[in-house]
Amino acid sequence: MKLWGGRFSKTTAKLVDEFNASIYFDKKLYKHDIIGSIAHAKMLGNCNIISKDESLKIIDSLKEILDDIESGNIEFKIEYEDIHMNIEKLLTDKIGDIGKKLHTARSRNDQVAVDIRLYLKEEILNICGLLKNLLITLLKISKDNLDTIMPGYTHLQRAQPITLAYHMMAYFQMFKRDYQRLNDCFDRMDYLPLGAGALAGTTYNTDRNFIAKELGFKNLCDNSLDAVSDRDFIIEFLSAASIIMMHLSRFCEELIIWSSSEFDFIEMDDSFSTGSSIMPQKKNPDVAELIRGKTGRIYGDLFNILTIMKSLPLAYNKDMQEDKPLIFDAVENIKPCLEIFNNMIDTMIIKKSNMKKATNSGFMNATDIADYLVKKGLPFRSAHEIVGKMVLYCLENNKSIEDLTLEQFKNFSSFFEDDISKQVKIKTCIESKVSLGSTSTNNVKLMIEKGKNFVEAL
Ligand code: ARG
Repeated sequence: MKLWGGRFSKTTAKLVDEFNASIYFDKKLYKHDIIGSIAHAKMLGNCNIISKDESLKIIDSLKEILDDIESGNIEFKIEYEDIHMNIEKLLTDKIGDIGKKLHTARSRNDQVAVDIRLYLKEEILNICGLLKNLLITLLKISKDNLDTIMPGYTHLQRAQPITLAYHMMAYFQMFKRDYQRLNDCFDRMDYLPLGAGALAGTTYNTDRNFIAKELGFKNLCDNSLDAVSDRDFIIEFLSAASIIMMHLSRFCEELIIWSSSEFDFIEMDDSFSTGSSIMPQKKNPDVAELIRGKTGRIYGDLFNILTIMKSLPLAYNKDMQEDKPLIFDAVENIKPCLEIFNNMIDTMIIKKSNMKKATNSGFMNATDIADYLVKKGLPFRSAHEIVGKMVLYCLENNKSIEDLTLEQFKNFSSFFEDDISKQVKIKTCIESKVSLGSTSTNNVKLMIEKGKNFVEAL
């Protein structure tokens, strides 16, 4: 007999039982479901909706059920459909009619909404912890590489010289925003739906504030219809997760390129690389590639929930049961990605001299030479054209700009003086970027300092 079987004169088809059930995946929520039920039972007792004794009995039995589940003594049943009804059935099997009182003033609709929020709030904190570790690693790499000169790129073409510290601190900003985004998402999720009942509220004089306090929610959902219909918080979490993955994926793409023989800027530690089953010489950046690949999977989870929710009328619809596999998928994939990525970059070998060597060609000082001419009095557009001509000349004569003599410089513009020999140096190009937030050592040190303060305040 189903918990809701009274109105039915026939049993459900076995195929329907199997199809309708979510216990296969929502059993993961057993702890959150029990914690939510304990708070609900406490409230029912406090408000004299059930007796104190009944409340205590329910709470004790729920705790026993929790222990039993954790010690592997429970087998959930498909015929009880989901984690909520499986646990309620276990409870009524244990304590009979008293157990049947637990669902007073509650629906599975507000129950499932509270379970997912409890689960996600916990996981957001875990993910934030992993992000914090990554931020710490980025600060460390940056501090160690303040003077590691490398090309900065646009269109993946050498553009202007920068330092690796500067490059790492760019990612720091992204993951810092990711952290903040998750925090914001947590705050908006921190509203208790329990007490909403099926959709309209309940006829009992409940104390939702008490439950909120018990379960660690800062606020109550103001409207019960919204409380049971809302899955924005999942969409928001998956958006934040997708952005994190996008950042990881861009970073991975760079690391994959940088570890190619063509770049040879870094080498992954052996413990974070794999070999080829046929080519004995190969060392592949599989880990970075897989993180890049898993990005698609998490975007998929986001699109999945967006599509599920797209045209659902208020309030609860069974479609919403499909939210859980994708939430679990995203959480279970993003966590190892963050942890492994962090260890991978922490252990990678940085080939400083190759990075520096790559700035020797590609005319990376061209913009600085144009700026030099501007400071000597030329309009920028004219300076740009002169330096463009110099680059063309050098390309045709297989030279770099720093090979030119002062006389040759002067052939292009009489504004060149002998201080140009210092300006063409890559190191000078970097250090003369004086604007706030630029690649010069002083500015990067400021960024690192600010970054350190951010992490320390977390
Ligand atoms: N297993 C359901 C879910 O995950 C629980 C809520 C069921 N509510 C209902 N009215 N059928 O969505």
